[in-house]
This record gives sequence, C-alpha cells and structure tokens, in this order.
Amino acid sequence: METNSDCFWLLFIASKCKTFSSQNSIWLLLLLCMGWLGMTLCFWLYPGGPAWGKYHWLRKRGATKHNNIIPGPRGFPVLGSMNIMLNLAHHKISAAAKCFDAKRVMAFSLGDTRVMVTCNPDVAKEIFNSSVFADRPVKESAYSLMFNRAIGFAPYGVYWRTLRRIAATHLFCPKQISFTEAQRSDIASQMRSIIACRGGTGEISVRDILKKASLNNMMCSVFGSKYQLGSSNTETEQLSQLVEEGYDLLGKLNWSDHLPWLAGLDLQKIRLRCTQLVPKVNKFVSRIIQQHKLQPETNNHDFVHVLLSLTGPDRLSDDDMIAVLWEMIFRGTDTVAVLIEWILARMVLHPEIQSRVQAELDEVVGKSRALMESDIQSMVYLQAVVKEVLRLHPPGPLLSWARLAITDATIDGYHVPAGTTAMVNMWAITRDPEIWVDPLKFMPGRFVSKDSSTDVEFSVLGSDLRLAPFGSGRRTCPGKTLGLATVNFWVGSLLHEFEWVQSDANPVDLTERLRLSCEMANPLKVKVQPRRR
Ligand code: HEM
Repeated sequence: METNSDCFWLLFIASKCKTFSSQNSIWLLLLLCMGWLGMTLCFWLYPGGPAWGKYHWLRKRGATKHNNIIPGPRGFPVLGSMNIMLNLAHHKISAAAKCFDAKRVMAFSLGDTRVMVTCNPDVAKEIFNSSVFADRPVKESAYSLMFNRAIGFAPYGVYWRTLRRIAATHLFCPKQISFTEAQRSDIASQMRSIIACRGGTGEISVRDILKKASLNNMMCSVFGSKYQLGSSNTETEQLSQLVEEGYDLLGKLNWSDHLPWLAGLDLQKIRLRCTQLVPKVNKFVSRIIQQHKLQPETNNHDFVHVLLSLTGPDRLSDDDMIAVLWEMIFRGTDTVAVLIEWILARMVLHPEIQSRVQAELDEVVGKSRALMESDIQSMVYLQAVVKEVLRLHPPGPLLSWARLAITDATIDGYHVPAGTTAMVNMWAITRDPEIWVDPLKFMPGRFVSKDSSTDVEFSVLGSDLRLAPFGSGRRTCPGKTLGLATVNFWVGSLLHEFEWVQSDANPVDLTERLRLSCEMANPLKVKVQPRRR
C-alpha cells in the first residue's frame, strides 16, 4: 500500500515539474516496471517461491538464517506453484516433497499465499497439537457460502467453541448417536430393497443410492425430515442440488484467493455462482426453521429443535442457525457416501477379503436376521477393512480444509510466520513405505494381526498420526464417531445382504478425482447376488 501511494506522489510531483516531459514519464514508468520485475525475481528466487521470498525480503531479511529456510519448489514468478493444486494435488505435493527431500516440511507458494505442508506423522502431530494452528484460511467461496459462521471455517475463538460444544452435546454425543440408530437401520433396509430390485436386472451404479441415503440420513438428524429412498420428492432433490453446487464451489481452486489483484474480475465466476446459491440455501433452510418454530417440540430430537431451544449466550441468530444447519448437511453427506463407494470397490476387487467379512457376519449375526449396530463391536475384521480403505483412500487426502498459523511458530525447527497456511498430506503418510509394510497392498489383516504395531486397538480417530483421516487436535472432525458408525453399519448391512461382483463391462477403476473429497473418478458399477434368503 505504502509503495503505491509513494509512487502516486512521485508521479504527481514529477508531473508538476516543468522538466517532466512525456518522454521522461515513459522512462520513469519503464524504471518502475524494471524495479517491479527485479523485485518479483528476487522474491521468486527464494526456496518455496514468491510468497515466501516476499516474506523473507520484506519482513525478516537478515533475521532468518539461510540454513533455516524451509525447502520447496519456487514454481513460477508471481504465481508460485498454483499448478500443484490442480487435479490430484495430494499426488503432486507428495512427488515434490520427495524431489526436494522435504517430506518433513516443504514450503510452496500459491500466488501471495505462503503454504507449508508435511508428509510426516511426527510433524503433523506438532502442527495439530499446537494451538497456533487452530484457525483455518477462509476461501472467498467459504465466506460467501456463510461457512465462516459455521463450525468449519469459524475463526478460532468463543463463537467457534460454542458451536462445537452445542454440536458435541446434541448431535455427536454417544446418546444421540444411539438414538438415531433406528433411522440408520431404516435407511439401510431401504437401500437393500432398492439394490435388490435394481440388481436383479444386471449392473447397478451405487453412487446415487449412497448419496441419497446419506443425504436422507443427515436430513433426518438435522431437520427431522423423513423420506423414502425409492420415491423422488422435490425437497431432497432441491437440497441435493444445493449441496452438489456448494461442493463444486468449495472444492475449486479459486485463483483470486491467492492473487488478490484478480479479485475484482471473478474470472472463474465463483463469486457469481455463490451469490446465486446463497439465497436458495437461505430460503430452503429458513422455511424449515419457520416450520419448526410453528410446531412445538414433540418427541423429535432433531438439530433444528435443539438450536431453537438454546437460551442465553448460546442462542444463535437465524442467520447463524442457517449456516450451522447447512454445514452439517453439507459435511455429513458426501464424506460418508464417498467412503462407502471406495469400500465396495475394494470388496469387488478382493473377493477373498469380501468372503472373510461375510464369514464374520455369518458367525456374529447369522443369516436369519439383519445386522444391527450393536453387532459391529464384535466385527473386528469388518472394522479392519474400513480402516484399510481409510488408509488407502482417505476421503480428505489433504485433510479437507487446511489450517492457518495465528501467530509465529516453530515447526520441526523451522520458523513459520503467522498467516502461513499449513497442510498435512495424509495420503502421502498412509502410503509411506518407511511407515507401513507394503503400503500399496490392500491388507486389512494388518489391523488384526497380533504382531503388528497397528493391531485391533489401532484408532483412526486422531491419536495416531500414521492414519488420522478425520484430522486431529482442536479442529478434528466432530462428526467422526457418527460418520464411522454409519459407514461400518451400512457397509456391514450391504455385505451381509449381497455378494458384490465385478461387472465385465465396467471393471473397477481406482482412478481418483479430487474435489472437496477424493472420490472415484469413474463411479462404481457392480453386479450383486443376494446371499440371505
Ligand atoms: C467418513 C466421514 C468423514 C470424514 C473422513 C471426515 C473428515 C474430516 C476432516 C479431515 C476434517 C478436518 C479436520 C482437521 O482439520 O483436523 C473434518 C472437519 C469437519 N467435519 Fe468431518 N468427516 C467425516 C464426516 C463428518 C460428518 C458426518 C460430519 C457432520 C455431520 C462432519 C462435520 C465436520 C465439521 C463440522 C468439520 C469442521 C471442524 C472444525 O473446523 O472445527 N464430518 N472432517
């Protein structure tokens, strides 16, 4: 800013000066351009690229010892490594970290944004355990879509803490999770009926069924609305379109988040699409809140009633309520569906492992009745399969949403300035041969073997950073227990009911597509055969 106003005054005074001809002004302009170019090149020359270079030059020149600079790619002048975040960012970051021998900590620039990333569990622990990284960088799309007022992007502080406490007490506590068991069981049985019906005619695609089941489940917990999976209705159709659009917008790399001089242009039309989406979300969720206000609370324990019943400092404004409710639907829908699709794909690819899960189901449950959630605790191998899929196909390979350094910090001996975005490449950690035996092999047995450090007791909930697909620390996923309970139960139910077989026309393709979650690029197509009659 200062530099711009200095230039302005310089040009203003110079223009008043008689000797300042148009020729001289061209020279001055040229001089300024060359100065800018020189500065840009100096910033770019630093390891990690222009954003890190700018920091070292303008703020800490001389103070930073050269051997304490985080290694990493320079990328392009001005742009830095924007290309690294396109398509499969987790693969590219992992490859760059190997190339720069920077698996513990690597620096790179996304335009003006300084980023540090780790592919190491010890450094990941250091980041997650530190209160410095309890904030999130807020993208323009997250801000426009009101997520800064919901848990995921709320700044670390009293408001965020209040929201987490409310959600932990009323939505994610064990009592509430067991209270919603009947609803998950009902949806599982609807899924089984639809699959049995469609599967009879040959190949089926499961993605739509899983997404709809997951959406209905969240709509029931959050709004108290119950729908039949098989029948179409405008409310679920509308909401699934809103969620889909929100997912697309949040998952996009928005260039103007990192290159502020592009912000006015909205080249990718992200701002425009957000402004079109928000009134629709407001209208949809407001209508549901109004309906709840008109109905006195009956036996219904949905989250809208909970929020409306809050009093005193916990009471949320209608706008905040809309943001919180919308986020719950949004976050809880895709992650669960994406993970179950990966698990079923692996079951089709590894029939011997599928048979072992089914043998366990037959032993614990038998064939005469359907699986119940209480059976899951006895199903060690099924849980091992889910863990192994979380290891090879974490829905958030970069743990979805990054963290932001609130103040200066020291990570792995490196100085990390306030305002730096920190990422953990969980995908790279879970495929590291120095951490996992045969990391690319699908071996659920590693989670049941007695002589392995990853036995039955291994928790994926964030205490062991070798496999923490729900993140860890203050901003760990609050929906992890609910998410895992849903996934274990639904997968168990589907494997108990059917044998899942590869389709000859559409063999399983494990190619990934990274949006907000990492999903199968080509939706799973399978054949099913009933096993329980
Ligand atoms: C398989 C299912 C799921 C996976 C893999 C998953 C993964 C994640 C990850 C990696 C994070 C970031 C954690 C961090 O920064 O340390 C996160 C945050 C979050 N998740 Fe989940 N999640 C799942 C299910 C759910 C469900 C069912 C809900 C809610 C209904 C939910 C709500 C949230 C929220 C609100 C946050 C933001 C937390 C904060 O910033 O304080 N997630 N999730």
